[in-house]
Amino acid sequence: MSREFGYTDADFNKVRSELRALAGINLADSKVSLVYSRLAPRVRKLGLKEVKQYLNYLETHPDEQEHFINALTTNLTSFFREPHHFDMLQEFIQSGERCERLWCAASSTGEEPYSIAMTLVKAFGRFDISSRLVASDIDSSVLNKASSGVYPLDKVDPIENKKSFFLRGKDANLGYAKVVPQLRNLIEFRKVNLLDNSYPIQAGLDVIFCRNVMIYFDKETQVQILEKLLEKLRPGGLYIAGHSENFNHLGHLMTPIGRTAYRKV
Ligand SMILES: C[S@@+](CC[C@H](N)C(=O)[O-])C[C@H]1O[C@@H](n2cnc3c(N)ncnc32)[C@H](O)[C@@H]1O
Repeated sequence: MSREFGYTDADFNKVRSELRALAGINLADSKVSLVYSRLAPRVRKLGLKEVKQYLNYLETHPDEQEHFINALTTNLTSFFREPHHFDMLQEFIQSGERCERLWCAASSTGEEPYSIAMTLVKAFGRFDISSRLVASDIDSSVLNKASSGVYPLDKVDPIENKKSFFLRGKDANLGYAKVVPQLRNLIEFRKVNLLDNSYPIQAGLDVIFCRNVMIYFDKETQVQILEKLLEKLRPGGLYIAGHSENFNHLGHLMTPIGRTAYRKV
């Protein structure tokens, strides 16, 4: 295969080990071409000729780590993805459980935390609520996008009651909608690497959403991260995982209550 920049198996293996060390993410053998296509824009931008030169640059310029991570994370998400989890959150609130502080721990471009916030507003029947949500990700570019709260109309159109939650753009913003300030104000966006030893979030949380990110970590790292996340959740608090992230074997830590949803023991 002819490529614009030099790229060898050794480069791929180095990318793999760097990404694993920085973000915990394991790349499968099949991701050789994906890695090249994600890094090529950085190699081009820096005026380099080979991925190997880029990896040397990464080693000597710690600031480049942010671009490296941003380029290699997979940020697929959508509004009300796995909708049963939002029904569960609504039931949790309506059963009278305390739901004041929530954390969405791999929030990508924001569709997930805004879906949580819309669920809070729906469950409480108003915007003026005391509940607050921290939404975090390792990737600074998706956090910026999430924080701006601007989405193409086709993503927003299927949302129930969208007129209460979004403003349609005009002129230069035609074709886009922006989250209303009352919804945006319920969320604080922060950069958090789940691999870090401790998280800058106060303990006693009522709900944690951590969906579709554990799949990138090996089993041992998953359990280490889960234990750190659970330190932040109150007993009886709700922990929501992604559809292929099953923790039923950790019954001493949390009790399964439905499709990849748990209550802290
Ligand atoms: C596939 S998206 C899932 C988004 C959302 N939770 C959902 O289920 O729709 C995975 C997200 O995890 C983030 N991520 C990957 N490694 C991470 C880490 N070590 N710490 C925090 N976030 C991470 C990525 O940047 C990406 O935005």
